[in-house]
Amino acid sequence: MNELDRNFINALNRKVQKTPPVWIMRQAGRYLPEYRKVRSNFKNFLDMCKTPEVCCELVLQPIQRYDFDAAIIFSDILTIPDALGLGVSFVEGKGPIFSNPIRRPEDISNIADFNPESLDYVYTTAELTRKELDTSIPLIGFSGSPWTLAAYSIEGSSSKNFDLTKSFIENHSLDAHRFLEILTDACFEYLKRQIISGVDVIQIFDSWANLLSDQQYLEYSLKYIKKLLDKLSKDPITCKTPTILFAREPKCNLNEFKLNNLSCYGMYTSIYPSNAINIFEGSHALQGNLDPKILLDEDAIIKETVLKLLSKFKNYPGYIFNLGHGITPDINPDKVKVLVDAIREFGS
Ligand code: CP3
Repeated sequence: MNELDRNFINALNRKVQKTPPVWIMRQAGRYLPEYRKVRSNFKNFLDMCKTPEVCCELVLQPIQRYDFDAAIIFSDILTIPDALGLGVSFVEGKGPIFSNPIRRPEDISNIADFNPESLDYVYTTAELTRKELDTSIPLIGFSGSPWTLAAYSIEGSSSKNFDLTKSFIENHSLDAHRFLEILTDACFEYLKRQIISGVDVIQIFDSWANLLSDQQYLEYSLKYIKKLLDKLSKDPITCKTPTILFAREPKCNLNEFKLNNLSCYGMYTSIYPSNAINIFEGSHALQGNLDPKILLDEDAIIKETVLKLLSKFKNYPGYIFNLGHGITPDINPDKVKVLVDAIREFGS
């Protein structure tokens, strides 16, 4: 990587910078007309994820349009449950559907061993993309957290309350832990191969952190995120790769996220920046957390809100601009340009 353009890596290394790096979660997606055009060639979303040349093109689309400071592999967090034989497909308007969800403890015993090679298509996407992407732009690889993958696998689909998942962990706690161990090992092997294939940074998405109470969060989610980070830090191949954790509205105290072996904490929309700054005190880089809904507003409001957020993190050692959750399909792509311009003007 070119030393001059390592804005994102500098932030992960906790450097104060005049202009923070910017990328946005779900930056390649349905809000972009060029994405929708490519997407229309595939009936099944996962078939598209299994076509590395196409995924590579999708990674590059938002980089070409906005000159973001980081790219993220085009794939999905549900590749692991799919590889475990749970039969994932995406149904228009309904989200992911599992044909073999985990409903009974026996279902866990019957899961196929995770074969990391079965996700070769993701590693090929990483290799191809790393070749095509400008050398100055870091490439982010990712996985879901073990808990978030377990929640989808047990529920068998998206759901408002995840009632099946909640009753499974209450009635079959030991089995749930057994499943979380399997998923932790799978995430490690998967992320390791992404790193071997050229990704520069890892992000873990704990998108269903909000389902758990404070105590449950520590027991069912954070415990396994810690295990995963620990494994990554002990392996000579993965130990140097910076790590970001994004958790959606976790109920536990923010202090719990001052984790060893974590480089950056990704703040969900509801977190007050001043609170995060006071708690982390520079121990970790911080990423986030503009409410994606602001992008539905007028340009002047977007600019004003962005500048407010930037001024809060002005002296924070290691700040990465991002949204507080993924961008939604209803956003006008021009609004993202307004956001990026406001950030770049701030530091110039
Ligand atoms: O630039 C990028 O970030 C694209 C790569 C990416 C996708 N999914 C592509 C995708 C990433 C990093 C993800 C992560 C992901 N997938 C998460 C964590 C992030 C978060 O939002 O909390 C989650 C929870 C999923 C699971 C998932 N994938 C759902 C629930 C859905 C359907 C609903 C939805 O948000 O669209 C998907 C499908 C999906 N994954 C799409 C994309 C671009 C849309 C599929 C389509 O075009 O039909």
